[in-house]
Amino acid sequence: MDSITPAASSQKEALTRRYGASGLPAMGPWNEVIATMLDHRSVRGYRPDPVPAGTLETMVAAAQSAATSSNMQWTTVIAVSDPEKKKVLAEIAGNQKHIEQCPLYLCWVADMTRNSVISTEQKVEFETMPWLETFLVACIDVALAAQNAVVAAESLGLSTVYIGAMRNDPERVAALLELPKQSFVVFGLCVGYAADKAQGEVKPRLPQSIVVHHDRYDTRDTAAERKTYDGEMAGFATRNEMQAPTWTERVLTRLGPIKSMNGREKMRAALRALGFEAR
Ligand SMILES: Cc1cc2nc3c(=O)[nH]c(=O)nc-3n(C[C@H](O)[C@H](O)[C@H](O)COP(=O)(O)O)c2cc1C
Repeated sequence: MDSITPAASSQKEALTRRYGASGLPAMGPWNEVIATMLDHRSVRGYRPDPVPAGTLETMVAAAQSAATSSNMQWTTVIAVSDPEKKKVLAEIAGNQKHIEQCPLYLCWVADMTRNSVISTEQKVEFETMPWLETFLVACIDVALAAQNAVVAAESLGLSTVYIGAMRNDPERVAALLELPKQSFVVFGLCVGYAADKAQGEVKPRLPQSIVVHHDRYDTRDTAAERKTYDGEMAGFATRNEMQAPTWTERVLTRLGPIKSMNGREKMRAALRALGFEAR
């Protein structure tokens, strides 16, 4: 008798989609939440249909349920629906049309303004504010919150894509959204229903044999495993008409030339202008 239950076979399918047959990890505990997470893919084409009423509120409730460092709650979300503003944001992001297309566009703000108000109100200097550590903590908080919102949206059958390209010109984004000093859009997020054929495939990830180390950082040569992963990504790239044929090639083009930063190399100056000393 076949001992593989339907749940186990769908788990194996999900893991195979995520890692390819060659990188399949051991099958551990499993449930619907994990299945949703493993089925994630970024979507760059949206139907015009609006998201159901209350979706923003549900996503934000999920976001606010994430852990937040010392309960400082550094996250603010700006839902942008003004088509003119979306157009400008799409342009800043290098003409990413999905920003204009998607019915819900969220800008995730590392908001150090809100807590600074308490400093003024209570006449207590916040000595911790100008430090890089505090800025980093705020950005980490934002990322954790947004990812909870993404999981919530995907569990509802919606699709998403993060837009880090908001950081191509943080000052212009801040001006457009009228951010006060000491607030910064860490990234945007498109939310909506995937257009026909835009759903795409699950993008394979590096095998766990490369990613998981035990008790110490392992510096062993993983070139052969990477090559196998490159093979998985090459198949994915062909099927999905991606420019970079392999992951190694993608790393080379993304991390090699400074022009791939699309203006983000000026981040330190931009942050200063936005009121972050980050010393
Ligand atoms: C912080 C962050 C910023 C991103 N910015 C962009 C972006 O500006 N445009 C885009 O098309 N995808 C963006 N992505 C999506 C990644 O390209 C995508 O997650 C990655 O290629 C893996 O594909 P997958 O999400 O489909 O698994 C971003 C992802 C993250 C986490």
